[in-house]
Amino acid sequence: MTEGKQAKSIVVLVSGNGSNLQAIIDQINLGKIDAKIAAVVANKENAYGLTRAENSGIPAIFIDHNSFDSREEYDQNLMCTIDKYKPDLIVLAGFMRILTTEFVEHYQGRMLNIHPSLLPKYKGLNTHQRAIDAEDSEHGASVHFVTPELDGGPVVLQSKVPIFAQQQTEELAQRVQEQERNMYPLVIAWFCADRLKMANNKAILDDKELSEMGYAVG
Ligand code: GAR
Repeated sequence: MTEGKQAKSIVVLVSGNGSNLQAIIDQINLGKIDAKIAAVVANKENAYGLTRAENSGIPAIFIDHNSFDSREEYDQNLMCTIDKYKPDLIVLAGFMRILTTEFVEHYQGRMLNIHPSLLPKYKGLNTHQRAIDAEDSEHGASVHFVTPELDGGPVVLQSKVPIFAQQQTEELAQRVQEQERNMYPLVIAWFCADRLKMANNKAILDDKELSEMGYAVG
């Protein structure tokens, strides 16, 4: 914990299992991230991430995208809900919805996402299968700041795993997700310690501009 500074407030958005959310909760409980999760919001009622939040005493909120007429209306509602918690950081942890530009710009510089590929490769869906089909020798995950370009914001950190011969998609996904659970809490810890920011569409760590592949490369 950083003495004299107030712990950051985080809102996490999920759509599914929430294993990344769990890793973040665990690292906060271990004192590795100086933050508090103020709320977890899901667009799917059965998202297990909501149960994980409840189990940790964190407000768990379901906002059904089917009950809004447009993406804009949904995002407006989501924004109002999030802003009640006055978060310093929004963490997308498997939130499987495209966000409007207005929403993204509202949180620019304080919204992170984790994506299961070595960006800029394989933006969008089915990333593990696409890496296998392309006969890549390696694959991985990226944590990046969110900007209006889908999966296009500046990368903070990437983690690589090898792709083996006759690679099964599920096994590759599991190895990538294991890396995700290590790297996402680390990046969030940097942000919460005021070491990480975004400026001029670049990720800056300890006052140094990171390369296109983030920290640890170039
Ligand atoms: C993670 O693998 C994450 O990279 C991916 O969804 C999974 C969520 O797992 N996100 C995306 O594909 C976003 N484009 P989790 O619910 O167990 O954290």
